Amino acid sequence: MDRIRIRGGNALNGTIPISGAKNAALPLMIASLLTDDTLTLENVPHLADVEQLIRILGNHGVDYTVSGKRLATQPASGRTIHFTARTIVDTTAPYELVSKMRASFWVIGPLLARCHKARVSLPGGCAIGTRPVDLFIDGLRALGAEIDIDAGYIVAEAKGGLVGNRYTFPKVSVGATHVMLMAASLARGETVIENAAREPEIVDLARCLNAMGARIEGAGTSTITIQGVEALSGARHRVLPDRIETGTYAMAVAMTGGDVTLEGTRTDLLQTALTALGDAGAEITDTPNGMRVYRNGNGIRPVDVVTDPFPGFPTDLQAQFMALMTRADGVAHITETIFENRFMHVQELARLGAKISLSGQMARVEGVPRLVGAPVMATDLRASVSLVIAGLVAEGETVVNRVYHLDRGFERLEEKLGACGAEIERISG
Ligand code: EPZ
Repeated sequence: MDRIRIRGGNALNGTIPISGAKNAALPLMIASLLTDDTLTLENVPHLADVEQLIRILGNHGVDYTVSGKRLATQPASGRTIHFTARTIVDTTAPYELVSKMRASFWVIGPLLARCHKARVSLPGGCAIGTRPVDLFIDGLRALGAEIDIDAGYIVAEAKGGLVGNRYTFPKVSVGATHVMLMAASLARGETVIENAAREPEIVDLARCLNAMGARIEGAGTSTITIQGVEALSGARHRVLPDRIETGTYAMAVAMTGGDVTLEGTRTDLLQTALTALGDAGAEITDTPNGMRVYRNGNGIRPVDVVTDPFPGFPTDLQAQFMALMTRADGVAHITETIFENRFMHVQELARLGAKISLSGQMARVEGVPRLVGAPVMATDLRASVSLVIAGLVAEGETVVNRVYHLDRGFERLEEKLGACGAEIERISG
């Protein structure tokens, strides 16, 4: 198993290209199931989760070809991948595949909409919490699907097709909103979704579906209206920049000090997180093609944050912000409201010398003047990268084990940080 070795102490200076968003690419790829035409996605990041989803979609009959190979001179330009689901050969998503990646459960929406049936394994729990699927079931039932649970599978059927309806989510869910958008696009009549997720990735999916011929209005607000259409066609769509990768590198710069331009991204994708970073002492400015993050001289100020659905502070940046706060001049409180068990990084940060105590959903982080390198490991993607951020300032050597978590969501992490002066390398095997 690969590991990442870091020698802390170097400030970051230079340019980091931001990749296409994992959490946009995954639902966009799944949307290819909705049409027998070709959906071409540009700026697809090279990540383990993307490769895994390609395998899962292949099981349903989606062919893909990759074009526009990345040139060495254009490290930021992601791949262009053409997805074609000419015929859906299998409407079952088996446990062996779904259990590897929760987002693959989302195939239930397009399969039901296009084939009027789907048999999809329940994803099960995962490292960050129980993550149930009740909202998907209720939403799809509102569109006329009959849903049973049989031997660990959700068996869904909509004889004669899905029918538009009004549905109010009792709780905001990104995945269930994605699924309702895809399902309602091919339902008969109008669907109105209330209390929809407002994440930029939802807007990106809606834009792509509209380019495919869907009629969706209001994405990015809590009320989304979808007029169902008979069929969708192919389209060409560019995956939006990864706001979590952007925020992660911005926090790394705030941690080490230095001056880095994050290229190919947008500040409006993560305003709340950038405000928190500004309060902590980083300077952030827009540039023509991204943003500049800068911190020189002054210390890190403690800032309290509470995670919330967009436009709130993203849960996917909570671990990274906590890493930053371990070096603040004072005490910060970090409250996690989205997932009940997303604090696995606390014990590992403590191994580097961080002073953090947990009380329910809140972490109290008392900044310390120094962290000291150690071997660490993490059990999810964002927790892993928080250890990298801490390792960048820890004295001596930090070795982050189980790098496969990082590879799920960060494209060429060690290369990007290394190019800005970090002493970081991957140790294979
Ligand atoms: C998406 O997960 C992201 N994944 C997550 O990113 C992200 O942390 C999360 O949204 C919140 O922003 C992808 O986009 C692939 P939710 P998702 O449904 O859709 C509860 C990462 O690190 N819930 O918005 O699965 C759920 O348990 C990942 O890249 C129900 O109760 O998240 C949670 O408490 C991790 N019933 C809350 O809603 C349901 O049926 C929000 O989850 C569905 C969800």
